Amino acid sequence: MLKINDLNTYYYKDGKETRAVDGVRLHIPPSCIFAIVGESGCGKTTLGLSITDLINPKDGKIISGSVVFEGVNILRLPQEKLRDIRGKQISYIFQEPATSLNPVFTIGEQIEEALLVHRITDKRGSRKLAIAALKEARLREPERVLDSYPHQLSGGMKQRAMIAMAVSMRPKLLIADEPTTALDVDTESEILDLLLLLRKELSLSVLIITHDIRLVQKVADKTAVMYKGRIVEIDDTDRLFNKPRHEYTKMLLESMPERLKL
Ligand SMILES: Nc1ncnc2c1ncn2[C@@H]1O[C@H](COP(=O)(O)OP(=O)(O)OP(=O)(O)O)[C@@H](O)[C@H]1O
Ligand SMILES: [Mg+2]
Repeated sequence: MLKINDLNTYYYKDGKETRAVDGVRLHIPPSCIFAIVGESGCGKTTLGLSITDLINPKDGKIISGSVVFEGVNILRLPQEKLRDIRGKQISYIFQEPATSLNPVFTIGEQIEEALLVHRITDKRGSRKLAIAALKEARLREPERVLDSYPHQLSGGMKQRAMIAMAVSMRPKLLIADEPTTALDVDTESEILDLLLLLRKELSLSVLIITHDIRLVQKVADKTAVMYKGRIVEIDDTDRLFNKPRHEYTKMLLESMPERLKL
């Protein structure tokens, strides 16, 4: 469904080149929960953003490589076409819903706006669809949430609202960058359960980006271990945990609390 080939994304700051993504290749099948795990600064977020060319041109750029989505190298598409794929067929959620939700608009206004921009529905149908999306994200009292401003919701509810907005487009791929890092442990499990459920219900693939190897073990079918801009190991999650091949993967697993190991 999504194939990344020899992708290189570099930043240029103060005359210094950072090879944040350095020759990455990977393949995400349909209906798969695929994790990218690695320590801070290894290039996970840059990789996620590169998939739909969201790198700020002031900071850096994609030097080479392709991202083939349903048979088309989307990095070669005109901006307008890519913009339509981004958000619609490939959606994002981020660690801090506050950075993606606008504080001055209600949740409903923001979901409806997104549905209208991507021409999923017209003005009359948008409220109904927005409510359906909030229900899908298992938010209780969807009407009340729809008319709430982001600050009136808890962190977990905001993240559910973000997920609702993302999946209301019926994307094929959801890129979730540290989706639970800002949440407490119980809320984290609820959000992970929701992602697992939506994967089944909507035949969605989810690319989970995280520094948390524990979370990977809980949810991912496949895992890629990233280190200094490169993928050092990629495998079915079970196999990776049972038989890590790369030294860095072994070290990551050893850093896990004892009781969580397989
Ligand atoms: N806008 C930017 N301008 C310049 N360098 C950047 C920029 N964003 C990231 N970098 C650098 O690129 C490398 C990869 O950063 P990135 O944010 O992709 O890592 P990450 O794995 O997501 O880290 P974290 O776990 O902390 O979120 C780091 O060395 C970082 O300092
Ligand atoms: Mg990051």
